Amino acid sequence: MDKKSLNWREFYAQTPFSRLHPPMPSASPDSPLKNPSLAIGDLAILTSGGDSPGMNACIRALVRSGIYYGHRVWGVVRGYDGLIQDDFRPMDLRSVGNIIHRGGTILKSARSEEFRTAEGRRKAYENLAKRNIKALVVVGGDGSFRGANVFSEEYPIAVMGLPGTIDNDLYGTDYTIGFDTATNTVVECIDKIRDTADAHNRLFFIEVMGRDAGYIALNGGIAAGCEDILIPETKTDLSELVEVLKKGRANHKSSGLIIVAEGEEEGGAYEIARKVAEQFDGYEMKVTILGHIQRGGSPSYFDRVLASRLGVAAIEGLRQGQSRVMAGIINNKVVYTPIHEAVKNPTQLDLDLYRISKILAI
Ligand code: F6P
Repeated sequence: MDKKSLNWREFYAQTPFSRLHPPMPSASPDSPLKNPSLAIGDLAILTSGGDSPGMNACIRALVRSGIYYGHRVWGVVRGYDGLIQDDFRPMDLRSVGNIIHRGGTILKSARSEEFRTAEGRRKAYENLAKRNIKALVVVGGDGSFRGANVFSEEYPIAVMGLPGTIDNDLYGTDYTIGFDTATNTVVECIDKIRDTADAHNRLFFIEVMGRDAGYIALNGGIAAGCEDILIPETKTDLSELVEVLKKGRANHKSSGLIIVAEGEEEGGAYEIARKVAEQFDGYEMKVTILGHIQRGGSPSYFDRVLASRLGVAAIEGLRQGQSRVMAGIINNKVVYTPIHEAVKNPTQLDLDLYRISKILAI
């Protein structure tokens, strides 16, 4: 039969899973991607690490698709700490109603020290085992995934990671859940700072999140029209920055905006402002740290769709025997990447964007 005439149920029923979602080419022959189909039964979901806008949309997608496929779904409160302290909640269809538009996470989040210990993981396993839970979905960043990987090596629990972090620093997905919203928040804030910078002829150094990665700074900096972008992935040359500022002044710029990722090696926006002020007195200088405002707020349409797609992909992947993988989207297709690769490989920042930012800042 011609595939085009099939409805979506028939299409999915007749198309092999491996054709719908090809594994990353780097998957080794003994990769968990090759696992035979697994009866996952009941499953638990948790959010872990720094929260990100879209986590609630993701919880909704996990619960709804889990129930759609006939599984009982448990929500674990406060990440791995909740696993250890036995804080489980049965999730039904209505428990995730009216949350798709909300920031934060209804399951709460935490960074658990105890889960780093063998004893903590043993308690966590016992709490899953006594409910006969066979699969765990972790929505979080690299630290959360490392814990999940160790856990599933030690105990018979299938583990699925979903990229939930504003930092966009996971290999195996083009975008992480929350990055788009956080970057939009940054742009909105910088637009406001631009107004007051212009009114007073001031130079602002604006620090954004990104402990190890400059995605927010690079994309936010271009979108907000910043004079320079300082990120951990490139070496910061303060004398070059001073030259940019001097040229801008010579070209009749009356104010300026410099965006700084918090992980940038010169020591953050205050330190850079202090050092620049020693070499250049063309502007009165101010510093703004945007901080946790970047983590909150209603998720953008993009993050809601991403979270919804990945939530369904997590359940469908587990049902097909995937474990110890992260579901991500690459070139608009769902892809499963072994977790150890998602956290090990450095993400490739698009340095062409950096080049563009230099051209446009003259
Ligand atoms: O991991 C996401 C992130 O937002 C980083 O960019 C930032 O450095 C960190 O979280 C801040 O974490 P916390 O909320 O624990 O201060």
